[in-house]
Amino acid sequence: MSDLLSSKVAVVMMATGGINFEVARQLGQVGARAVIVNGRTEASGAAAVARLKESAPATDYLFVAADASDGPSQKVLFDVAQERFGGVDILVHAGRSPNPSGGVKPFTELGPETFEGAARGYFLSLVYACHYAVPQMMGRGGGAILAVLSDAAKIPTPGESVVGGAMAGAAMFIRTLAREMARHQIRANALTPSLVRDTQAYDNVMRQEFSRKIFEKAERRAGLGLPGPEDLAPMAVFLCGPQSAHLTGQTITINGGLAVA
Ligand SMILES: NC(=O)c1ccc[n+]([C@@H]2O[C@H](COP(=O)([O-])OP(=O)(O)OC[C@H]3O[C@@H](n4cnc5c(N)ncnc54)[C@H](OP(=O)(O)O)[C@@H]3O)[C@@H](O)[C@H]2O)c1
Repeated sequence: MSDLLSSKVAVVMMATGGINFEVARQLGQVGARAVIVNGRTEASGAAAVARLKESAPATDYLFVAADASDGPSQKVLFDVAQERFGGVDILVHAGRSPNPSGGVKPFTELGPETFEGAARGYFLSLVYACHYAVPQMMGRGGGAILAVLSDAAKIPTPGESVVGGAMAGAAMFIRTLAREMARHQIRANALTPSLVRDTQAYDNVMRQEFSRKIFEKAERRAGLGLPGPEDLAPMAVFLCGPQSAHLTGQTITINGGLAVA
């Protein structure tokens, strides 16, 4: 436990499980004052908050439901941050296509639903979250934004043409936002995992034949072993905290060495 982030208020999206649950947990362990934990369902939200409070009892964890695939519906996260805590200092974003059947598939098997879903879930979702967060951060004298994207933004991956395009757009948005916002003491960075064990995404790609072939090969290339959420979260905490006060506009890969991006 430390007080690195004492007085800081964070919104962590898609944090009832997977990577961002661990990020929310570790933000509490370095003393965040409050963490708004986002997910879709009250039941998983309540279970996540109970586990998080056990891990960092001094942090005020609060579940707020909102669909991470739908930008405008995320406004509630920042309204709650404003009403309950006077605004947000840290945004950890993660997005999700509203069309999960898109998955990892050859381009010829994808259709408009997938195109629209990737644009809304991975690109626009981030733009909207920043649209709500940035004015609050400016009012508080600064802030840190971290987008959890994907290495598909940097490494051309068969089956991820559309997702990769949307993620690359999101990465460029973060880099440009970083330039624009530095004068307001707001930093913006991205974390780009490839494949993360112990997540629903890992199980999903390994269930489908086309994606399993691609990602099994990738997993074998990860000489350091595939990372899990606990391997990504310390970098996320670093990028959101004072130890990276002069670091902005970066897109950092943690993938166990399966590729260098
Ligand atoms: N895991 C990987 O291998 C991997 C690789 C590359 C990139 N990424 C990226 O990393 C980010 C996080 O991925 P993850 O694998 O950690 O997530 P995840 O395990 O699939 O989901 C984490 C949590 O988010 C909640 N959730 C799902 N859809 C949601 C939605 N539409 N709105 C709000 N909450 C939602 C789920 O809880 P409820 O069902 O209770 O709502 C779940 O517990 C994603 O943007 C993903 O694209 C992941």
